[in-house]
Amino acid sequence: TTDSTGHGTDPLVVDFPLRAPGIPFPPPEYADYRDKKGLVLSHLPDGKRVWLVTRHEDVRAVLTNPAISSNPQHPGFPNVGETIGVPRQDQIPGWFVGMDSPEHDRFRKALIPEFTVRRVRAMKPAIERTVDAQLDAMLAAGNTADLVADFTLPIPSLVISALLGVPPADREFFESRTRVLVSFRAYSDEDRLAAGKDLMRYINRLIEIKKNWGGDDIVTRLLATGAIGAHEMSGVLMLLLIAGHETTANNIALGVVTLLKNPQWIGDERAVEETLRFHSVADLVSLRVAVEDVEIAGQHIKAGEGIVPLVAAANHDEELFACPHAFDPSRSARGHVAFGYGVHQCLGQNLVRVEMEVAYRKLFERIPNLRLDVPEDGLNIKYDGVLYGLHELPVRW
Ligand code: HEM
Repeated sequence: TTDSTGHGTDPLVVDFPLRAPGIPFPPPEYADYRDKKGLVLSHLPDGKRVWLVTRHEDVRAVLTNPAISSNPQHPGFPNVGETIGVPRQDQIPGWFVGMDSPEHDRFRKALIPEFTVRRVRAMKPAIERTVDAQLDAMLAAGNTADLVADFTLPIPSLVISALLGVPPADREFFESRTRVLVSFRAYSDEDRLAAGKDLMRYINRLIEIKKNWGGDDIVTRLLATGAIGAHEMSGVLMLLLIAGHETTANNIALGVVTLLKNPQWIGDERAVEETLRFHSVADLVSLRVAVEDVEIAGQHIKAGEGIVPLVAAANHDEELFACPHAFDPSRSARGHVAFGYGVHQCLGQNLVRVEMEVAYRKLFERIPNLRLDVPEDGLNIKYDGVLYGLHELPVRW
């Protein structure tokens, strides 16, 4: 369908992409959108106009344009999750993923030293111990498991709690509450809201403990720099927790399915980067709004209109990745935008790479005869309109 929009060109107009995805994620329509070479116009369920961006080059142009904002308080901002019931956290002070430069710079600068390759490498032994402990428990419990509940969800949560300096005795509490927060089908909205409040209370207590006692952790170091205000600290920590939990869990789970299907790549470290590109779990995360009139891919976008760069579409763009639907770790997957692009590019990406490498290596080393316990087309795909993953991953060995 085309429609005259008064923008000078007639863009393709499509339904908002909220459909049950398959594996890998990008629905076939994304390729059609890319072939149009321009942007695609859509409407959110609340009626707001949004521009969908699917070509790799155009996604990068959007994510580096200073006239395009990340601020969800802007009236034109496409709050995609909210329109389908995902609670918003972006009202919390310190939620810097929703800030623009120069406000955003202060947070980014304070946090970058915490996520360098060097610092993350130093965490590797702790990550290995965490992964081993989950596998010990799984192996002790029998010869079947739900890999999402028993492996992929606890690992990132336990790693983040170590990073934040959550005392070991509290990590089970921390993990159980974060799990409720992200399991939208298994728990009611009320339960999830209560879990969010419990975590916020816990984080505030943790900040008080670190103020008084200190420790070798992000919270203590951030407090020492003074770069982040007392009223912003809990928002920053909550963002780290939320941004790094389900994204990582979903990516590990989908990667296991793909590796079981392509066992020749098990044990090859290059699978990590290709898994990130191939699955692009955060397809609808880098949302934006134009704050001035701008032109992207020849399309005039008016100030106040929403822009949705679809990173899964960009990561399957044939101009950059030959045979994009093939899972091929021997290709150079670098250059993918699974972590976004520009000033908001994922802060946790070095950490994720180590977590994924350790998770795959240990899992297949310790359980070499791992297999799916359901047919692949019977897998319960999780899609809340923002992130893509699996509700469960039943396995057997
Ligand atoms: C930002 C994806 C894991 C912390 C982002 C963005 C994406 C993303 C697409 C950009 C958002 C935007 O443009 O608005 C992912 C994926 C992950 C992952 C796919 C796992 C596979 C993590 C982890 C952490 C983390 C483990 C931290 C422990 C953050 C933070 C931001 C961010 C703090 C905001 C950065 C800023 O605004 O400057 N992530 N992420 N992420 N991510 Fe990740």
